[in-house]
Amino acid sequence: MKITLLGPPGCGKGTQAELLAKKLGVLVISTGVIIRNLMESGGFSKEQEENMNKGGFLPDEQVIKIVEDEISKKEHSRGFVLDGFPRSLFQAESFEDFEILDCAIYYSVSDSEVVKRISGRRQCHCGSTYHVLFNPPKKEGFCDDCNEKLYQREDDGESVVKNRLLAYQEKTQPLIEFYKSKGILLEIDGEQKIEKVFEDTIEALKL
Ligand code: AP5
Ligand code: MG
Repeated sequence: MKITLLGPPGCGKGTQAELLAKKLGVLVISTGVIIRNLMESGGFSKEQEENMNKGGFLPDEQVIKIVEDEISKKEHSRGFVLDGFPRSLFQAESFEDFEILDCAIYYSVSDSEVVKRISGRRQCHCGSTYHVLFNPPKKEGFCDDCNEKLYQREDDGESVVKNRLLAYQEKTQPLIEFYKSKGILLEIDGEQKIEKVFEDTIEALKL
């Protein structure tokens, strides 16, 4: 199955992507994770890094190339769960020349919940994500999976979150109509407990 997860920053795309990929026996392709890793190894210019840390998006062409290169790998031949891509109409339309998605899942979450979730998020370099209240690690400040120290993302400050929400509304929200018109959109109430959101996802996908 080829699936993309849509929704505002902090709606739970990364969290649900991991659960869903495990259930489907495929891998997650998260542009946010790939881009942050590439940034660490100097794969983007200083200006691009600053733009991202202020809540802006990276150039469409560059991100499309990253995703298409990744999908071409053998390990994704059985399908994948995309997290954070496509994120603009241009990305969605260009991607259709490369791959046709089976389903786009949209997690609806209010702006106030987004702020709560992002301010409490803690991250590990291995990719695992926690929340200090909603999904705490067993040992405070350390990853359950690899015991590394957790950190806060550079773009998780409150003023940056506002910019990320604006970028989402302007550029990504139109994708809801785009996938609806293709008949592949599933909308899930993302403002429930993690387990319930996952349950609804599985049910909507008839898995
Ligand atoms: P990206 O990393 O994708 O960030 P985002 O879309 O802003 O989404 P987040 O990762 O912040 O949230 P999420 O929806 O994954 O939620 P999570 O599961 O972590 O992208 C970052 C940047 O990269 C972009 O701003 C852009 O610059 C660039 N970029 C990426 N893709 C791009 C593209 N295609 N084109 C151009 N630029 C691109 O959950 C959040 C928190 O809430 C966690 O702490 C979690 O534990 C908790 N939580 C999750 N679900 C629930 C729940 N149901 N109840 C309570 N808490 C919950
Ligand atoms: Mg994420």
